[in-house]
Amino acid sequence: MAESRPRVWVSQPLFDDLVGRLAVHFDVHATDVVTEHSPAAITEALRDSAGALVTLNEKIGAPQIAGAPGLRAIANVGVGYNNLDVPALTAAGIVATNTPDVLTETTADFGFALLMATARRITEAERWLREGQWQQWSFSTLLGADLHGSTLGIVGMGRIGQGIARRARGFGMRVLYHNRSRLPDTVEHECGASYAGFDDLLAQADHVVLVLPYSPQVHHLVDASALAKMKSTATLVNIARGGIVDEVALADALANGRLAAAGLDVYEGEPAVRPELLALRNVVLTPHIASASLATRRAMVSLAVDNLIAALGEGPDAGRPPTPVNPDALAATAGITIAKRQGA
Ligand code: GLV
Repeated sequence: MAESRPRVWVSQPLFDDLVGRLAVHFDVHATDVVTEHSPAAITEALRDSAGALVTLNEKIGAPQIAGAPGLRAIANVGVGYNNLDVPALTAAGIVATNTPDVLTETTADFGFALLMATARRITEAERWLREGQWQQWSFSTLLGADLHGSTLGIVGMGRIGQGIARRARGFGMRVLYHNRSRLPDTVEHECGASYAGFDDLLAQADHVVLVLPYSPQVHHLVDASALAKMKSTATLVNIARGGIVDEVALADALANGRLAAAGLDVYEGEPAVRPELLALRNVVLTPHIASASLATRRAMVSLAVDNLIAALGEGPDAGRPPTPVNPDALAATAGITIAKRQGA
């Protein structure tokens, strides 16, 4: 009797040619149209699955794990993985993977683009022009803030933060960074960046960019009191996760001239954006697209597919997914892989 192949769930339409590689090994159940899956729908989709390819929109926690006794691997298409309850996955012996590195430079490009658009009021200027308000050229129209010669504060100095620092160096900016741990001297030197305490960075920076991973410990790190420490002429850019900024306090600071401008790619309740933010002219709003170049989004899916195949004990890297986030859980998969190789 033919052995049934492990079932894998693909939560969103990705790139068919890349996702198609899963079909060599697995019985693939892919979602054809962009779908907002309810928690119950995710539980149902995972119930008989051995693995899943998911995006940051699918939250996988204790109820989903409890309902999926055969689940062995979750491949997240994204570098951030706060949609996954990693301790619960690890406790259940389920491997979780993400897609670091392949998106670093594209995301740093975007962070810098959002910073420039915000400081130089580019989207506001375009809207003004399209609305027919350009009746007369005036010397003081849409005055913005310079990047060159200014101080940039980067909060979260991982790979993407370092990429932004390298770009800032080319723009003649002074770069401060704040991070959980201080970087080695060689990396600081290469990035041209100096370590600063969080409050010190907020007080000194003309522009602040948030690139740190989300965890409950940094929920609303940038709240009313943090915003009050910033210069009233400063720019704040968030390409990390919405929950890091208290959006009500931010909208209030922007509306009342306590902060000059903000650029946001991420939101606490995305895809919903607060009406208070939508109503402001001094905030640039983009729909979570920092890694969205065609080449990079393809590279992310390709890496996630490699991760899933390997984590489920198939392919040339069986048992060794390239980018696990919970290597501890690999021990369980390794056991299955060895048993499989031995024909069990
Ligand atoms: C996007 O936000 C990602 O984490 O990859």
